[in-house]
Amino acid sequence: MKRLTNVLVDDKVCPQLQSVLFSIVTACKDISFRVGQGALSGVLGATQDENVQGEQQKKLDVIANQILKDYLAADNNVRSIASEEEDTIVAANETGDYIVGFDPLDGSSNIDINGQIGTIFTIFSAVNQLNADDPAQFQQTGREQVAAGYVLYGSSSVLVLTTGKGTQCFTLDKTFGEFVLTNDAMQVPTETQEFSINMANSRFWFEPIQYYINDLLKGEIGIRKKRYNMRWNAAMVGDVHRVLTRGGIFLYPQDKRDPNKPAKLRLLYEANPMAMLMENAGGKASTGLQPILDVKIDDLHQRVPVIMGSSEEVEQCQFYYNQ
Ligand code: AHG
Ligand code: MN
Ligand code: MN
Ligand code: MN
Repeated sequence: MKRLTNVLVDDKVCPQLQSVLFSIVTACKDISFRVGQGALSGVLGATQDENVQGEQQKKLDVIANQILKDYLAADNNVRSIASEEEDTIVAANETGDYIVGFDPLDGSSNIDINGQIGTIFTIFSAVNQLNADDPAQFQQTGREQVAAGYVLYGSSSVLVLTTGKGTQCFTLDKTFGEFVLTNDAMQVPTETQEFSINMANSRFWFEPIQYYINDLLKGEIGIRKKRYNMRWNAAMVGDVHRVLTRGGIFLYPQDKRDPNKPAKLRLLYEANPMAMLMENAGGKASTGLQPILDVKIDDLHQRVPVIMGSSEEVEQCQFYYNQ
C-alpha cells in the first residue's frame, strides 16, 4: 500500500510543490467529509448570489471555494489563486513559487440529488516579475501546467493526479484519512463505443458536431459501423473520470445559443487540467481545431470548446472539423 506522500517523494516532486498539493488535498478531504454528510452538514441548497459568470451559486460552491482558499492562502508556497467562484485573481503570498486555479465544485446541479461532484485544480509556476495580484500570472498555456488533478466525491472519493509523467489514481481510505495509490498509470483505451454530450443542445450545434454525432447515432449501419452508447452525468468531473477509466469521448462543443459565450467550460480550471490528465493517460484533448493545451488564455474565466478522450475517437471527430 502506497500513500500519496510516498508517491510524491518517489516521483521526486520538489518539497514546495508537494506542500501545495497537500494543501489542496487537505482541503478536498474536508470537502469530501461535508459532501458525505449531505443534508446533515447543511451544505445542500442554493444561495441568493451569482458568480461573475452569471451562474447561481449553490451553498457548496461557496463553502468549497472558501475551504480551498483558506488552506492555500496559509501555504507560503502559493503566490496567487484563481477560482470559478472569484471575480478576479486572489493574492496569497508574495514570495510563493506556485499559482493555483480551481473549480471548487464541479457539477453544481448534482449537489442536491446525491450525484457525482468534484473539485478540479491546476498548478503553474508563478511568474517572478509579476505581483501576486496580477491576473497576468495566469497567462500561461496548459502545456506549462506543473501539476493538475481532480477529486471526485463519488461512491468513494478518488484523487486523479498528474505531476507531469503519467496519470495516477488514489482512493481516500476513510478509516485513516489518507489517499492511497490504486492505479499507478491510468491508460485510456484508444478506441471506444461510448460518447458523452448534452444532446438537448443538438439544435444549437455547428455542422461538424451535428454530422459527427449523427454518424455515431447511425450505429452499425452508419459509416462508423459500430453501435454507440451515450452517457451524461452533467458533471465534467464524473464524465471525464468514466472516460479516463474505461475509454469514451466527452464533448462540450461550441454552440449558437449565445454569441457572447462561445462554449460552456472554462479553459483555466476545467479544460486545461482535464486535458493534461487525459494526454498523460494516452488520450487526446482538442477544441476541434487545436489541442486544448495550446490555447492562449486572455481571461481567467475564458471558455473553450472541449472534445477529449480515446485518441482514435477524438481524431475521428477532428476529421469533421477539417472537412
Ligand atoms: P460547474 O458546476 O462547475 O459550473 O460546471 C458545470 C459544467 C460541467 O461540470 C458539466 O459538464 C456541464 O456544466 C453540464 O452542463 P449542462 O447543464 O449542459 O448539462
Ligand atoms: Mn458554476
Ligand atoms: Mn465546473
Ligand atoms: Mn464549479
